[in-house]
Amino acid sequence: MNDFTSLITGGCGGIGKSIVEKLLKRGDNVVVFDCLSVESEQVKDLKKLDVFYFQVDISNVESIKNAFSKLFDFFKSQNRFLDLLVNNAGVIRDNFAIRMTEQDWDFVLDVNLKGTFFCAQQAIKHMMKNKKGYIINLSSVVSHSGNPGQANYAASKAGINALTKTLAQEYSGRNILINAIAPGFIKTAMTERLSKEIKEFALSRIGLKRFGDPSDVANLIEFLSSGKADYITGQIIDLNGGMF
Ligand SMILES: NC(=O)c1ccc[n+]([C@@H]2O[C@H](COP(=O)([O-])OP(=O)(O)OC[C@H]3O[C@@H](n4cnc5c(N)ncnc54)[C@H](O)[C@@H]3O)[C@@H](O)[C@H]2O)c1
Repeated sequence: MNDFTSLITGGCGGIGKSIVEKLLKRGDNVVVFDCLSVESEQVKDLKKLDVFYFQVDISNVESIKNAFSKLFDFFKSQNRFLDLLVNNAGVIRDNFAIRMTEQDWDFVLDVNLKGTFFCAQQAIKHMMKNKKGYIINLSSVVSHSGNPGQANYAASKAGINALTKTLAQEYSGRNILINAIAPGFIKTAMTERLSKEIKEFALSRIGLKRFGDPSDVANLIEFLSSGKADYITGQIIDLNGGMF
């Protein structure tokens, strides 16, 4: 085990679990925030992997503050710091704009954008004391292109891009490197739910003619936080197999 500590939100999901496995393999101490109950099969599975698990609803700022406060108290007792935050938790609630309800809008914006911001805020305050850190936010290809049926999701991810650039400008001077990854179509439960027609349409737009794997995202996160990419900050890095 190395001295590097990483926190992944949404670590029980398809991409999140792959990131957790990759960083554990690197030797990181890994912490996961996810909204799933400790009784759920996904969390029981995850706990077999030697991670610290916190049940946190990242759409709720109090829930975020409580979890970070407990985590940082624990770190203090161990003389340890948070090195990497991956803001990965995300949700969809698709509908055409004329049918989209306020609940659909708020649900997606609260988890994806508000949750990302307030987790970053807690991490930055802490990382400033340690004078270094990495934050990587999960955006999406639709943050650039938009996507019919995803006004709420596309807006939340475009917001993450602007947030990433803003935070990078505020905190790169403190040696906190903040980037976003904008994946295209990655095979997970989130995309499994889409109809056959949407999947076929998506595939027809991908240059490499295949969907991405969660490990493609995990590999990029490993690189961005490896020390070999320390002149990269404030960037939205596309990871989409050539999807435009
Ligand atoms: N799968 C793709 O093709 C794709 C493409 C582009 C971007 N992304 C982004 O990648 C990230 C991960 O996607 P995925 O496909 O692994 O999704 P997923 O649905 O498999 O996993 C999402 C995880 O987030 C957790 N979560 C949801 N709401 C939460 C909340 N309020 N508080 C804490 N945790 C919460 C879920 O419990 C789950 O474990 C998301 O931000 C998503 O928008 C995915």
